[in-house]
Amino acid sequence: MTHQKFPFTRKRRLRKHAFSRRLARETRLSTDDLIWPLFITEYAGCEDIPTMPGVPRRGPDELLWAAEQAVELDIPAIMLFPVVGEDGKSTDAIEAYNAEGLVQRSVRAIKERFPDLGVMTDVALDPYTASGQDGLTDATGYVLNDETVEVLVRQAISHAEAGADVISPSDMMDGRIGAIRAALEDAGHIHTQILAYSAKYASAFYGPFRDAVGSAESLGGATKESYQMDPANSDEALDELLLDVNEGADMVMVKPAMPYLDVVRRAREQLNVPVLAYQVSGEYAMITMASAGGAIDLDAVMMESLTGIKRAGAHAILTYFAPHAAGLLQS
Ligand code: PBG
Repeated sequence: MTHQKFPFTRKRRLRKHAFSRRLARETRLSTDDLIWPLFITEYAGCEDIPTMPGVPRRGPDELLWAAEQAVELDIPAIMLFPVVGEDGKSTDAIEAYNAEGLVQRSVRAIKERFPDLGVMTDVALDPYTASGQDGLTDATGYVLNDETVEVLVRQAISHAEAGADVISPSDMMDGRIGAIRAALEDAGHIHTQILAYSAKYASAFYGPFRDAVGSAESLGGATKESYQMDPANSDEALDELLLDVNEGADMVMVKPAMPYLDVVRRAREQLNVPVLAYQVSGEYAMITMASAGGAIDLDAVMMESLTGIKRAGAHAILTYFAPHAAGLLQS
């Protein structure tokens, strides 16, 4: 890099005009970067989530309406998260792979009406376990690995059969990507993609999400530290990411986003598959609530946060702001 001293080099020259700021810009956010996570229920209508202002739980019609909005806004894909009632929760989580379950029915309904919209499904047992944990538990409450993976495989196959384009295991069990990939191939679902939540941290930023899906109550103060990653680690994240790529993940994810941008950057530099980042519920809540309190400007902070995640190296971003950001990007 050439470097001449001031006054030959005045970094502000390029910043003076909009035209040269445009020419010099390194990162451009577009609707191509966005994935919209949606909470779905059996019940008609929309229900507010107090800790996630502006993000509702959606009934079947509202889900289709959101899918239509995604298509109109040119958002490439949506991700579905089910809100399951007490009757769907059990110790063996069998509702997770019910062919007529909420997720499976919703996927079919969306793909029938909007075949070109990417539909991603979350593969994890937390909506379906009485414990609120992402897996089956033993008598001591420890989350069992291999037994859980067997259920995850069934869940993944049921989603693929329903027509999900992308299976997204978010549970952090060991070996689940390889097991799911092998089962998908065996069942002939050779085109079904896997987006692995590879570097998923045991984060306190998931609070509003757990309110949204009702797992906070089931967890009752229990943590997920025996399977989700320690927030202090990033070498370990690279190990997790590489394992999932080697087991057959098509895309990988780092989650949450903003406190882990260094991990996003390292992942981007060291891997040759798409690296996604999830701007999680707590990040969304911080920005919306701070702006509602008059502390920050919602649109500006939202766009800055998304641009920062992209600049760090993310190929795409899961964000509850997707429709709002897409609307701004279109106008
Ligand atoms: C659980 C799951 C979680 C999120 C996505 N899938 C929460 C958790 O691990 O408890 C969090 C998403 C968010 O906070 O927006 N399988």
